[in-house]
Amino acid sequence: MVNASGALSSVSLALAALILSPGKLVAAQSSALSALKYTNVGGTGSYQQVTNIIPGTFPTCSANPSCIQTTKTVSGSLAPFNEDLTMVFRGPMTLHNVAVYQPANSSGTSAWSKVSSWGAGGTGSNLVFMNNKGGSTSGTWSICAGSSQSYANAAFSDAAASPTGLSYAGDLPDGQEVNIMTDIECTASSCDGFFRGTANEGWADSKMFIMEVEMPSGGSTPPAIWALNAQIVRSAQYGCNCRGVGADGGCGELDVVEVISGQDQNQGISEVYSFKGATGTGSSAYFTRPTSGAAVYAVIFDVKTDQIAIQQWPSFDFSTSSVSRSQIDGYLTASGKVVSFGSTNGRRSHRPVGFMGAKRRGF
Ligand SMILES: *[C@@H]1O[C@H](CO)[C@@H](O)[C@H](O)[C@H]1NC(C)=O
Repeated sequence: MVNASGALSSVSLALAALILSPGKLVAAQSSALSALKYTNVGGTGSYQQVTNIIPGTFPTCSANPSCIQTTKTVSGSLAPFNEDLTMVFRGPMTLHNVAVYQPANSSGTSAWSKVSSWGAGGTGSNLVFMNNKGGSTSGTWSICAGSSQSYANAAFSDAAASPTGLSYAGDLPDGQEVNIMTDIECTASSCDGFFRGTANEGWADSKMFIMEVEMPSGGSTPPAIWALNAQIVRSAQYGCNCRGVGADGGCGELDVVEVISGQDQNQGISEVYSFKGATGTGSSAYFTRPTSGAAVYAVIFDVKTDQIAIQQWPSFDFSTSSVSRSQIDGYLTASGKVVSFGSTNGRRSHRPVGFMGAKRRGF
C-alpha cells in the first residue's frame, strides 16, 4: 500500500479503506473461523449397533466374538445426529458455562428452551459430568472389558459415587476427559443399544449446546471438544462401540473444535463422521484456540433444516432461558464457511491420525 517514495497513492488509499472496513479485515488476514455450517447432514444408511459385550476370561480375554453388533438402519433429516448425543471435553481446559437448548417440536417453529445447564463452581441442572472410570465408586469394571462410564468427581479427575450435590469447579486437567449427559438414568426402553454400569440419557432430536471454555496452552495434550452418539460412551468409548473406524463414521461423531497433535497448537479444526463418511474444515480453516480468556462455542444440531452449525462467540448470556426459532434461523444463516455433507461431496476416507486412536482398546 506504500509506494517506493513512502507516499500513499490514491489507488492504495482506496485499497486501504476497502481492506480496513469491518469484516473484510478479518477475511484478508487469516482463515480463522467464526462460523462453520454443515449442510445435507442426514441420510439413509446403517451402522453397527452394539447389543452386547462379552469380555472373556482373564488372562486371555479372548472371547470370540466379544463385541456383539447388529446392523441398525436409520434415515431422515440429520440422521444419525438426530439420536441422543453427548458432548466430550478433553483437557487442559477450563469450563465456565454449559447450556443445552431444545425446541418442543424439532420440525416446527417453537422456541428452544434451556433444558440443561451448569456454571463453574455450581451443581448441574439436568446436566451431569461423566467419564470412563467406572468400577470403584460408580459404574462397572472388569479386567477384560475395562471401565464403563462413571459419574465424574467435582475435580474432573476421578469417578464419584453420585453426581448429587457435586459442585464442579470446571478445571479439566491436562489429558483428562469428561462428557455431559442429562440427569436421567437409562432404562432398557429409554436408551438405545447396549449399555453397562452407570448410563444416562443424552439429548435427542434438535439441540443446541453452548459452551464457554478456555484452552490454556502448555499442557502435554491437545484439548478438544467433540460430540458423540451417546451409545458410544455407554458401551465403550475406546473399545466396542457403534462409531466404527477408518472410513466409516458409523453412528456419528462431530469434532467441534479439536487441536490436532503435530499441527498448529493454536488452531482447532472440525470434522463430521457418520455412516456417510467424513468431511470437515480441512487444514485451511480453523477456530482459534482460546488460550487466554474464554471463548463461547455454540453447536446447533437442527433437524428442521438438516444442518449442523458451529460458531465461536466472544460471550453469551447464560441466563437466557429461551431462544426463538427466528434467532436459531439467524445463527444458521450467519455468514461463514459452508461444508456440504451431501452424498456426492468429497469425503475423507480416513480420519486424520489423532489422539483417540491411540487409546482404543483391543475389542
Ligand atoms: C410439529 O410441527 C410440525 C410443523 O409445523 C407439525 O406438522 C406437527 O404437527 C408438529 N408436531 C406436534 C407434535 O406438535
